[in-house]
Amino acid sequence: MSSIFVFDAYGTLLDVHAAIGRYRSEAGPEADRLSEIWRTKQLEYSWTLTLAGRYVEFWTLTQRALDYALARVPSVDKALRGKLLDAYFTLDAYADARATLRTLKARGHRTAILSNGSPDMLQGAVNAARIKEDLDAVLSIDVLKMFKPRPEVYALVTDRFGCRPGDVTFVSSNRWDVMGAVAFGFHACWINRSKMPDEYPDFAPRQVLRDLTALTNGA
Ligand code: LAC
Repeated sequence: MSSIFVFDAYGTLLDVHAAIGRYRSEAGPEADRLSEIWRTKQLEYSWTLTLAGRYVEFWTLTQRALDYALARVPSVDKALRGKLLDAYFTLDAYADARATLRTLKARGHRTAILSNGSPDMLQGAVNAARIKEDLDAVLSIDVLKMFKPRPEVYALVTDRFGCRPGDVTFVSSNRWDVMGAVAFGFHACWINRSKMPDEYPDFAPRQVLRDLTALTNGA
């Protein structure tokens, strides 16, 4: 039966640590620590602003988070800032992203992205990853000016496709995003690439998979 598969972008289809990966030798031994702090702060800003009822778009938060990370990890040359941001704008997709989207489309399913990313970031990333033609919709939270996991954000999907939450399989590597999707009523699939321990026991995903390829088994 045909379904609607909706993907988180950053961390799920797009490898957020690919930016540092392009400059690992220039960044030095604390490259990974910088990248972790960058991602953690980017998400923290999205949550704290949303809790405060305020909004600053994701690209600005991405830049501010990188500035914070560079300040916390002074061994990394601040001159890399521009290069890292350019790399983030055109992040590499995970190796299994394109083939998975393509297979789902070929089997008659509908596919979309639902992301915190601002529309220009998402356009840049989708073009760079060459997955535009494999997606029926690219939905940004920017129209609502609030970030995941607010339920209004997940409702962008049911509004766009004119469907019920139970018609949607939501796919994310971010366990907190899976929590938000399950709370909204989606069937959720957690892509646990790095074998993290489970969280949010009251909001369990229907499936836990180690990569995107496993999603097309039986879909
Ligand atoms: C996104 C972030 C949460 O793409 O990764 O929405």
